[in-house]
Amino acid sequence: MRSLIDVLDLTVNEIDELIEVANDIIANPDKYSEKCKGKKLATLFYEPSTRTRLSFTAAMMELGGNVLGFSEASSSSAMKGESVADTAKMLSCYADIIAMRSPKEGAPFVAAKAATIPVINAGDGGHCHPTQTLGDLLTIKREVGRLNNLTVGFCGDLKYGRTVHSFINALSRYENIKIVLISPEELKLPNYVKYEVLDKNNMEYRETTSLEEAIPTLDVLYMTRIQQERFVDIDEYNRLKDSYILTLDKLANAKKSLAIMHPLPRVNEISVKVDEDERACYFKQALYGKYMRMALILKLLKEAEDKKKEERFSLDDVVINQYICTNPRCITSTEQELDHIFRCVDKEHNIFRCIYCEKRAN
Ligand code: NCD
Repeated sequence: MRSLIDVLDLTVNEIDELIEVANDIIANPDKYSEKCKGKKLATLFYEPSTRTRLSFTAAMMELGGNVLGFSEASSSSAMKGESVADTAKMLSCYADIIAMRSPKEGAPFVAAKAATIPVINAGDGGHCHPTQTLGDLLTIKREVGRLNNLTVGFCGDLKYGRTVHSFINALSRYENIKIVLISPEELKLPNYVKYEVLDKNNMEYRETTSLEEAIPTLDVLYMTRIQQERFVDIDEYNRLKDSYILTLDKLANAKKSLAIMHPLPRVNEISVKVDEDERACYFKQALYGKYMRMALILKLLKEAEDKKKEERFSLDDVVINQYICTNPRCITSTEQELDHIFRCVDKEHNIFRCIYCEKRAN
């Protein structure tokens, strides 16, 4: 069964096709209004969400389908100790496709392995958020006009910001992308993204702590909130929470064609005065996310009907229960009887990473 766990599960061609379908939906919504008649989407959200859950819901409704699900872990059997795998197996009896968000990294992957229907990762801990990336790509395509030859600045919490990790992965496959990483020392991009995505793909990037210094060079500025819920030490959050605030003054030297993006929710990192600036794209970005989710639901349901095989679960280069994942946010820390599986991602340096959360083996 084909699922979407990581944005790299889709080829660049497939992403182009999704963008094409999304553009067609925008132009001809009526053509799509009954495409999912009789189909059900289950939204399993174990973590707060406004946009992602509601845009999945709106997406399915605009395709003529139905939606069932829950919006907090406390109203599900997770509270009684039910495993993610069991929930996914069971939901396969009630729905045709699942969108799952969890604070546990790798939870949607575990669900996809257990389910007999497609599973879409709607955000797993600080790990990744592929459908946000799909909306981000459509936003750039429509607002900037190209996905190649871009200088993209990421600002804020690059450590825990899962939208950033997925987006950088996606950008690594386009031509002539320059990345500027703007964050406090404590919230720098994780090494696995830096070394295994940016370096491996020979991408040009630099790190800075200064937003003002970076702004004039950028075609896209991707602001993010500091992810309070992922901090172990609240004092550290309080010290870092106001690190970057984008104001109209700071945009004085920016390109006229800059696209200002943000996955939302915003806390205070973009002044509301910036909303009036025509370079602000973040609310359109939320709308485009819905169209890409519609295109994705159509694609995965069609593939499920055609019984297209999932290729993600290959056991090449893996070792089973030789290492134990030490990431407290990894799904292996809670899901009983789940094998600890690590894949060799770099043979030369003997680097193994957890297949669920990508934490490096000790
Ligand atoms: C993001 C998320 O949940 O990771 N929100 C979203 O889905 N649009 C960003 C965030 O919470 O900061």
